[in-house]
Formats: sequence, structure tokens, C-alpha cells
Amino acid sequence: MTEPLLIARDLSRTFTSGGRHVTALDDVSLTIAPGETLGLVGGSGCGKSTLARVLTRLIAPESGSIAFLGDDWLALGGGRLRAARRHMQMVFQDPLAAFNPRATVGGVVADALRIHSVVPKAERAAEVARLVDRVGLPSGLMDRSIRDISGGQRQRVAIARAIAVRPRLVVLDEAVSALDVSVRGRILELLVGLQRETGVAYLFISHDLAVVRAVSHRIAVMAEGRIVEEGPAANVLAVPSSDTLLDLIDAVPRLKREPRA
Ligand SMILES: Nc1ncnc2c1ncn2[C@@H]1O[C@H](COP(=O)(O)OP(=O)(O)O)[C@@H](O)[C@H]1O
Ligand SMILES: [Mg+2]
Repeated sequence: MTEPLLIARDLSRTFTSGGRHVTALDDVSLTIAPGETLGLVGGSGCGKSTLARVLTRLIAPESGSIAFLGDDWLALGGGRLRAARRHMQMVFQDPLAAFNPRATVGGVVADALRIHSVVPKAERAAEVARLVDRVGLPSGLMDRSIRDISGGQRQRVAIARAIAVRPRLVVLDEAVSALDVSVRGRILELLVGLQRETGVAYLFISHDLAVVRAVSHRIAVMAEGRIVEEGPAANVLAVPSSDTLLDLIDAVPRLKREPRA
């Protein structure tokens, strides 16, 4: 078996707000293999985004460990952290918040290439053009402001920026949830095509089982800060064992099962 790309063990994280104590992550463990898509599905507030933020080191867990590319990811600092960061990219639901709103489409992708020295400077403009084209954006959008393009186009820019640095893993948190159904389908096709070409792995997070099912090799189901079931997508969907997954299946018209006894 190939070495996992990422191994998370027993991650826990709590929040206190307004005197209320929330266990957002309660001993979460998962592994992601090179080139695979792990779908993470669960209802609102179950801890999915907290897990994404802990894995990408936007916030720290209170306990647990993460191995990424064979390194102790939570202990990395300095140049080694910068080098490893390149290999774990993230795409959010609303990329506007993650972009400088004055940035242009081409500028966003060029910056990613520059920061991580992905290609020699002389080749940068050509690589930007190639990436913009690859994610299905017309070259005429290159100089447009991020503010002035549609949500679907913006998500294509976010994907171009993420894959520009040739990462090993992209964490996508509700990346298509704000998009119209037809736009969503085309973005999912783009992600699958890019994975085939580059061997990138995805942690694909959504509250929508239909979306997770469309792209995932394996599925993990989360409820109240815990992973309540996990396995190959077909097995998990064929023999759902948690109430959470049964509820999520009921929410997808095409997947509806016989009424529960
Ligand atoms: N920064 C925060 N401060 C306080 N509570 C938080 C914070 N982030 C998340 N939470 C709480 O943690 C729980 C999990 O949230 P989240 O990870 O965003 O869930 P999901 O992405 O599955 O909807 C929720 O109860 C949420 O209110
Ligand atoms: Mg979330």
C-alpha cells in the first residue's frame, strides 16, 4: 500500500463563546491517500469547517497529531513549513473573502506562482495563461477584478490558484455550495479532470451528500464533532449505519430509500 499523504489522529478542539462550551472536534482521526478524494459530509455545525481549519493550520487543535508528507505537520515552522504549505491548498465557499478584492484574475494566479517559485519568472505569464484556460476561464477575463466576475468564475480562479502550485492535497470546504446546480456540475467535472491529470488528492467537504457522492472515493460522515462512519463511497452508501447518514440520504431525492422501520 502507498504511504498515506495525511494521517490525522485524535484531533480535538473546543470553543467557548458567550459562556457556551462547544466541542467542535472530538477525537477525530482520518487518513488521505495520494490522489484520492475523501468526502466529508455532515449537517451544519457538526465540525467540518473546524476540521478543515485545523488540518490547514488556520487554527490549532487542543490535542491530537497530524502527519503530512511524512512530517509532523503541527510542529513544522520556518522554511520547512513554507515548503510544505505549498502542498496543502484550500478552497473556501466564498473565495471573495480569501482574495484581495482589488486583485485581477491573472494577478491572483501569478502571485501564487511567484510566492512559491513554481516556474522561472520568464515562464510565469505563459503558465498563468495556461492555468486560466485550464480552469475554463476565457483569456479576456485575465485583467478583470475578482470583484467583477461571477461566483462560478471566482471559484474557478480559486481552483486555478490552488492547483497553480502543484499541491499534493486541496481541502475544499463547501467549495460548490453557493453555486447554481449547472455551474456546480461543471466545477465538479473540472475538479475530477484536474485530479486525473495531476494526481492531486482532495478533502472534499460538504453538507450535501449528492455533491460528495459525485466526486468521492471514500466518504467520512461527521456528527457532533466525531466521525461516525467512514469507508469506500459505495459501501458507506449501500449500508449506511448512522442516523446522520440516513438523514443525509433522505435529503437527496434520487437516493431516497425505503421508509425506515
Ligand atoms: N470561532 C468559533 N467560535 C465559537 N464557536 C465556533 C467557532 N467556530 C466554530 N464554532 C462552533 O463549532 C461547531 C462546529 O462548527 P463548524 O466547524 O463551523 O461546523 P460545520 O462546518 O460542520 O457547519 C459549531 O457549534 C460552531 O458554532
Ligand atoms: Mg462549515
